[in-house]
Amino acid sequence: MQKYADKYLVVNPWRIIEQNFDPERNNVSESIFSLGNEYMGIRGYFEEGYSGGSFLGSYFNGVYEIGEDAAALHYKGIVKQTHFMINALDWLYTRISLEGENLDLATSKIRDYERVLDLKTGILSRSFTWETSKGKLLHICFERFVSMTSPKHGCQRITFKALNFDGQVEVSMGLDFNTIHRSTGKNYWNCPKVHGDEAAISIMGKTSITEQKIYSAAVVTSTQALDKAVVEREKYIGYEFRVKAVQGIEVNIDKLVLNYVEKDKSIDESDLWAEGTKLAEELLTASYAEEKKKHSSYWERVWDTSDITIEGDLENQQGIRYCIFQMHQTYHGEDPTLNIGAKGLTGEAYNGHTFWDTETYCLPFYIFNNPKAARNLLEYRYNTLEQALERAKQLDCEGACYPIATLNGREACTLWQHASLQFQPSTAVAYGIFHYVKITGDKEFLYEMGCETLIQICRFLATRGDWSGRTGEFGYFGVMGPDEFQMMVNNNCYTNYMAKKTFEYTIDVIREMKDNAAEKLQALFAKLDFSESEINNWTKMVNKMRIPLDKATGIYEQHDGYFDLPHVDINKIPVEDFPLYNHWSYDRIYRNDMIKQPDVLMFMFLYSEDFSLESKRVNYEFYEPRCIHESSLSPSIHSIFASELGKHREAFEFFKFATRMDLDNYNRNTNEGLHTTSIAASWVNIVYGFGGMRSDGNYIKMNPSIPKEWQSYSFKILYKGSVVSVSVNKEAVKVKVNSGQKVSLNIYGSNYEIDEDGIILPLPERQKG
Ligand code: BGC
Repeated sequence: MQKYADKYLVVNPWRIIEQNFDPERNNVSESIFSLGNEYMGIRGYFEEGYSGGSFLGSYFNGVYEIGEDAAALHYKGIVKQTHFMINALDWLYTRISLEGENLDLATSKIRDYERVLDLKTGILSRSFTWETSKGKLLHICFERFVSMTSPKHGCQRITFKALNFDGQVEVSMGLDFNTIHRSTGKNYWNCPKVHGDEAAISIMGKTSITEQKIYSAAVVTSTQALDKAVVEREKYIGYEFRVKAVQGIEVNIDKLVLNYVEKDKSIDESDLWAEGTKLAEELLTASYAEEKKKHSSYWERVWDTSDITIEGDLENQQGIRYCIFQMHQTYHGEDPTLNIGAKGLTGEAYNGHTFWDTETYCLPFYIFNNPKAARNLLEYRYNTLEQALERAKQLDCEGACYPIATLNGREACTLWQHASLQFQPSTAVAYGIFHYVKITGDKEFLYEMGCETLIQICRFLATRGDWSGRTGEFGYFGVMGPDEFQMMVNNNCYTNYMAKKTFEYTIDVIREMKDNAAEKLQALFAKLDFSESEINNWTKMVNKMRIPLDKATGIYEQHDGYFDLPHVDINKIPVEDFPLYNHWSYDRIYRNDMIKQPDVLMFMFLYSEDFSLESKRVNYEFYEPRCIHESSLSPSIHSIFASELGKHREAFEFFKFATRMDLDNYNRNTNEGLHTTSIAASWVNIVYGFGGMRSDGNYIKMNPSIPKEWQSYSFKILYKGSVVSVSVNKEAVKVKVNSGQKVSLNIYGSNYEIDEDGIILPLPERQKG
């Protein structure tokens, strides 16, 4: 399917640069220039206000409201109450005017516009010269960041320089809870308390149903004395003041903000206010420069261990650094009660919800860059086990069923066919535990939380599955696999395979605990009222699990009856029909063999070591031509297969838009927010695709190849406490330990002990693109 770039931004290895502001692209740029720090996220909107089309978005991880679905009330198991991340306060609120004329980029005359996101330092800046109708020239630079070292802090600096006059610039700066949630057109905030004085302004916002609260305070200072008047309006508190502009002299205005979220509704407003006020005191002694320094040095450390370089392809170089940057912004393991939304904290599409994307696409990045974050993501699932147990009951099952989409652990997806029929989140959690523990060896996590989670998932899988009366095989009836174009099918191969592996792994973990942590296991068995007979049951299910396979061809059948479906030549679908969800009647997409995203290929990727190259080849060659990649998570997995199969051109074609999906707005919907989880997939694409890494077996394997277009590339992984770097050029592969102990790796099929001197191996001919 043809996807093409909408080229707009300047290509640069470390910076995302927008020159000459294009109002038509404003909403897309607002997504691209989003900032976040896991705790909060802010879109790249113009803080001074913009009367043209703008999507002013400010989000806090896990801050949501609730909506009811009355139509579902009569049906057991269908989600009746959904929840969604809501647009919160505009803590950057600013208004600027000169001699009564307001600055507004939709109407004001400006020149020398430039907006830059510096990936090295995490600072977003925007500058231009404003020419008023009376010919006054004012140069303005806006700078902002959300602190990676103090998650509650957001920082903003405005620098004015009068170029041809002396005068006074009028400025308002405040904290505004009047934001409109774009998807519903509503404002969700009440503001029970505000306060403002010379030292600081503060406001509290509270949601109606969830009663979640945000306390926000700001301190505004300048290089010149400001005479600030406090202004209070509905849901708003701010300052108004005048800045003396002297020709040729720069003046800074700094605003340091503390945003403190309290999600527990039982916490009293006055207690939160008191706590917030205490925390806000730190703003009085903090400085913009000091906060910026700490924030930027955080990013320096990130790049030391996480950078990927690509020589000979500046676009992908910029693209992959942007992806790495977004991954760290979205989540870096501060808080195990938080997770990753499919759009991160950059927009409202997907409602801020976490999907199976976390364990399948994002977790590998964290396992190999920030294992603490990987553990916290899994702890999030442990912390929401109660909700998963509740969900299984709603579906007339036992154990734990993890939701397809959630913020608080409860199922929030109102499309019943997904919420009630897709079980890949549960098997993904089990896979995540398996993968994380295999690589990090974190047995403490496994024994304290992992095993309990696994047992409860197995209980769900054991009660949701059933025995075929005809064949005596075990399997899953009436399900939907990762390919969402096939609904209510029997024995989706992915579901069955993943369930089988989940049972096997859980049985292994229980065996291991019997030997190594018997007391803990006994306590766990008692807590869960677990009997050994459950293991016997699971073993029977494993032995009799139906894995549909055509023995003659070696092709796994995506589900029973899939091979009988009418064939659609996807190349004949007119390009205007995409996305199909909008152009084909919903039932029509279910009636043929076209697939949305990898399904068979997905389990063959996750458990790559279980399958021979030949098996991968026949399945790839069968399923790839049937896949329309309607999910942005899809091309990267195909690229990885293509690399392994030596189809280097195809591998590069599938990779081509992975790193620049949003920078070049390939799907034409970046305005809604970034494709955060597919951003993770582009890291997976380089490391597992071109790097040929495999991490599901007994060794970490590397099998690097290089695309024809690249001179060289390199990536780093954190493995067993050591930073290992892999550099590949057209002749050779160099693998070395940058810091830490020796590690064992398997490269091109042979085992090596790698130390600081590293090893250099010639690049095999077959690996050249
Ligand atoms: C994909 C799912 C994915 C979700 C969120 C959907 O389009 O089909 O697999 O979990 O998007 O990224």
